[in-house]
Amino acid sequence: MRKKIVVGNWKMNLLKTQAESLANEVVNLLRHVDLSETKKVILSTPSLYLNKISELTGKEKFMFSCSQNIHHENSGAYTGEISAERIKSVGVSYTLVGHSERRAYFDETNELLAKKITTALSQNIVPIYCCGEQLEDRRLENHFSVILTQIEEGLFHLSSDEFKNIIIAYEPVWAIGTGETATSDQAQEMHAFIRSLIIEKYGNDIADDLTILYGGSCKPSNAEELFTCPDVDGGLIGGASLIAEDFVNIVKAL
Ligand code: 13P
Repeated sequence: MRKKIVVGNWKMNLLKTQAESLANEVVNLLRHVDLSETKKVILSTPSLYLNKISELTGKEKFMFSCSQNIHHENSGAYTGEISAERIKSVGVSYTLVGHSERRAYFDETNELLAKKITTALSQNIVPIYCCGEQLEDRRLENHFSVILTQIEEGLFHLSSDEFKNIIIAYEPVWAIGTGETATSDQAQEMHAFIRSLIIEKYGNDIADDLTILYGGSCKPSNAEELFTCPDVDGGLIGGASLIAEDFVNIVKAL
């Protein structure tokens, strides 16, 4: 069954005490919201805080912690990196893979991301695979082909059984941190396109169960409209996830 999910991506923000108080506030506010197996909340925090935040979310039935990145190897001489095996050991069950900021600033390619996806799955970590086009791609009407390539090269090496354990997040790069949100029609159009690719490759049942999140200037004022689109199954939230009340209001929009 398809799951509805809201993920807060804190990026490289918050000091330790701020991170802990935000997480506590979110946990407390969410006690009044009906979460369930098919309506979950995930906090993607700086890696330094994953241990602590996992302890907090671990006490809540439908809240989870998430890494913002992993290395493509499980262990070894990779100074400064974190891996699926290590985040697993502190209670983390999700990781972002291929966020556009990692693609842009750390030159992550689809080929590398495909390896990270496989490594995450090998440790039972659910990868949230991010895809999204640049503004120029959309201007040139190349956005569908950019997403097609990102999905094919990043994910289509997976078997059907493996694919059942992934989440996709569509984040148009021009909407990230800009205040410019994709319209609900634009989001729905791309999400339906992504789902059609999955139908073609893995069949109807797997495509129907796949959670596809929207990310890019999602906030309390537009979340409900976005989330009512039939192929938008929740959100990957940046800026608004740093304010407990805004984040929880976005969760309520689910
Ligand atoms: P904003 O919500 O700040 O636009 O960020 C979106 C994002 O990049 C989440 O991963």
